[in-house]
Amino acid sequence: MAVLVTGGLGFIGSHAVVELLQEGLDVVIVDDLSNSSKEVLSRIAKITGIKPFFYPFNVCKLNKLKEVFEKHIISEIIHFAGFKAVGESSSKPLEYYDNNLNSTLALLKMMEKYQVKKMIFSSSATVYGERDDLPFNEGMTITHATNPYGETKIMNEIILRDVAISRPDYAITVLRYANPIGAHSSGLIGEKPSDIPNNLLPYIQRVASKKLNELAVFGDDYPTTDGTGVRDYIHVTDLAKGHVLALKKMVARTGFHVYNLGTGRGTSVLELVAAFERENHVKIPYRIAARRSGDIATSYLDVTLAKNELGFQTKLTINDAVRDAYRFEIRGSKLDKTKLLKKESIKK
Ligand code: UD1
Repeated sequence: MAVLVTGGLGFIGSHAVVELLQEGLDVVIVDDLSNSSKEVLSRIAKITGIKPFFYPFNVCKLNKLKEVFEKHIISEIIHFAGFKAVGESSSKPLEYYDNNLNSTLALLKMMEKYQVKKMIFSSSATVYGERDDLPFNEGMTITHATNPYGETKIMNEIILRDVAISRPDYAITVLRYANPIGAHSSGLIGEKPSDIPNNLLPYIQRVASKKLNELAVFGDDYPTTDGTGVRDYIHVTDLAKGHVLALKKMVARTGFHVYNLGTGRGTSVLELVAAFERENHVKIPYRIAARRSGDIATSYLDVTLAKNELGFQTKLTINDAVRDAYRFEIRGSKLDKTKLLKKESIKK
């Protein structure tokens, strides 16, 4: 029996795989490497001592998925795989709807065919859209997100809800994430966007390591304590552990369930920059820039339900996250360089 983890080499997926392996569970990863690298697999093995099964293809490919379901007895699915760049989703909506919806549909078809009855889906606080009634809770009516990426999360949630209603023997859990940050404490896995980062902490990391000159703070005139945007930043390891709790809860349960996973607290852009500087003894040059279109002033989650029903509680702080992120920035790139040097010497 194994847990199928789609997108298991990505930022959140890889941390979840580590936690699942450390719980003694067997893991099968499907990841098309479109925003990850095979090197992550070796690093997962280095951390856990276990190399999970890995298949490099896109989850939408039904024939290839079938082979995986034929080969392994899958007991649960955790579906992380998906395109996630907000800006890009507005310029390539078709790609986003195609990939992010068809991957879920393909998995649901496999569930039907191979009698797999349990799935966890990666959703996002982005489904709450722009609203003033903070903190966001699971009972709120979901209408529209501010971009196609967010819409794919809402549509996936609707599809999964309807399938769960039609199949009373299924257990489907949707996890709505706050902003995941940080990296594994080993410094071996973390967030590594292949392009210039869109998200705040990866951008700060690159400024800290002098790969980028300065941070642009998108707006200082929001109605927040210091005028900069406020978000609920959760350490990726705490978030990953939330998946193990959700998985355990699903074993003896059916139905459709939705949980917010966050800290319940907001941190501003400037507070995160200050924490990074203080904890890592580096200076982060920044300038105040115009607001980024589509951004909201404040977002943080009510996490009472996850606490009460899953026993979810965050243990790591913003300070832990900024230290771990910087450790990964330094160690991760060092390892990359060593690898490059090795490759070079093989060529010679
Ligand atoms: C974004 C996505 C959200 C997704 C999440 C994943 C948008 C609108 N939303 O959230 O759907 O689930 O990432 O983590 O992109 N900031 C700067 N300078 C930067 C980058 C960011 O000032 O270079 C500010 C932003 O204005 C915001 C905060 O930092 O106030 C966090 O931004 P970001 O890390 O991009 O996350 P979100 O926008 O909250």
